[in-house]
Amino acid sequence: MSVAAVAPAAFVPLAPLDEARVRQLDMPGPRYTSYPTVPVWTPNFGAEAHARALANAGKTPLSLYVHIPFCERLCSYCGCNVVVSHDRGRAGRYLELVKRELELVAQHLGSPRTLTRIHLGGGTPTFLDESQLEQLWSAITAVFSVERDAELAIEIDPVVTRREQLALLHGLGWNRLSMGVQDFDPRVQDAVQRFQSVADTRAMVDCARALGWGSVNFDLIYGLPRQTPESWRRTIDQVIELGPDRIAAFSFAYLPALRKQQRRLPQADLPLGAAKLELFRIAYQRLTEAGYVPIGMDHFARPDDELARAQAAGTLWRDFQGYTTRRDADTVAVGVTGISRVGGAFAQNVKSLTDYRVAIELGQLPTERGHVLSADDRERGDVITELMCNFALELTPERRARFAPELARLEQHAADGLCEIGAYRLEVTPLGRMFVRNLAMVFDAYLEPGKGAFSRTV
Ligand SMILES: C[S@@+](CC[C@H](N)C(=O)[O-])C[C@H]1O[C@@H](n2cnc3c(N)ncnc32)[C@H](O)[C@@H]1O
Ligand code: SF4
Repeated sequence: MSVAAVAPAAFVPLAPLDEARVRQLDMPGPRYTSYPTVPVWTPNFGAEAHARALANAGKTPLSLYVHIPFCERLCSYCGCNVVVSHDRGRAGRYLELVKRELELVAQHLGSPRTLTRIHLGGGTPTFLDESQLEQLWSAITAVFSVERDAELAIEIDPVVTRREQLALLHGLGWNRLSMGVQDFDPRVQDAVQRFQSVADTRAMVDCARALGWGSVNFDLIYGLPRQTPESWRRTIDQVIELGPDRIAAFSFAYLPALRKQQRRLPQADLPLGAAKLELFRIAYQRLTEAGYVPIGMDHFARPDDELARAQAAGTLWRDFQGYTTRRDADTVAVGVTGISRVGGAFAQNVKSLTDYRVAIELGQLPTERGHVLSADDRERGDVITELMCNFALELTPERRARFAPELARLEQHAADGLCEIGAYRLEVTPLGRMFVRNLAMVFDAYLEPGKGAFSRTV
């Protein structure tokens, strides 16, 4: 199904790139889901600092992230921190701890609070069965009230999700569904050990639509082993035919030193450099031709989607959960690895289930590390987010003076055609969109060459 009938396509063609230029720009670099990035945060920021940050939370409605680390299968490309299991009992015991963490967080927040957004992520949150999902909802609503039009999102793996789970969640008010798809080509699926047919995915989309889910997102990954321009074109066409409302086309983050499962991938079959970028170009071209609007760095949405409208209005924002229209909400996160941005600080929970259980049983916040934002961090973070969301930067006289060295360094990127620096505004060019991480890196005061395990910018 094409979405072109909804509104005219916002199509800006991207030109193919030459190898030499790509080699120059292809370097390890952050994805800037936070600024400063996680490697900068310190273990000296512990449970007490986290409690202080919660007490300082903004008074506007909050965003809540709940991490469910369990998966039934382990996909070889996966960059997430997952626990592979078939034992629902483990999830039940984990939920008991999450419930206690929610109570702790609510105590530290101090006053009764409302949620404007809940994001259930993983892992695979539909590892939880219906009664466990209900139990989690009761635990959340026991300590928070939820706004009537709150954005309630969940990440699912279509292959292990059942109609009953989607029906229950929709009945509870859940309204945003994000499905992992990645790639439909059988040779690619074999290389990454994730098997998922178009028919399975279609069945899940049909089921969600029939139940009344208004927003369905697909996650794709480009840069996986054995992807070729032809195979990837077929996948994109199959995706367009299934007609999701939003599509995220993530650049494959290859970090075998950190993620053991990635060592199983056939390394020689990875498309790299210009070959990888060509895959993004194909996705961009085909999706925009079909009527999707490119959103930020790697997302696409129907023209009537609120993200497309927010981007047009310059109000789009981005955080750990992806692109959002709810810019000002402080985020509190529960569960292993959960990342909060609250009360002027970042705080990350411990990664291991054992450490998590020990902290919660002691009645402590399970904080592993964090960072208190300085005024400089906030200013630079805003600049980076504006660049990544809106592909433009307002250059007020204060900003020009404040970031004079950075703007001077950007002149080289401007000469290379990645951006245009005017008197009042910096604009990222269509070519520069593919290298927006390189542009953002110019504003990163902590970046040291060779430090921090980042995926490559291409
Ligand atoms: C935590 S997963 C949740 C989805 C669900 N578990 C599934 O697999 O269908 C969220 C998304 O992260 C993306 N992802 C995982 N590993 C990645 C990697 N190494 N590089 C880029 N994206 C990745 C995938 O697109 C995946 O759908
Ligand atoms: S991609 Fe999804 S299902 Fe696969 S291992 Fe990662 S979180 Fe689990």
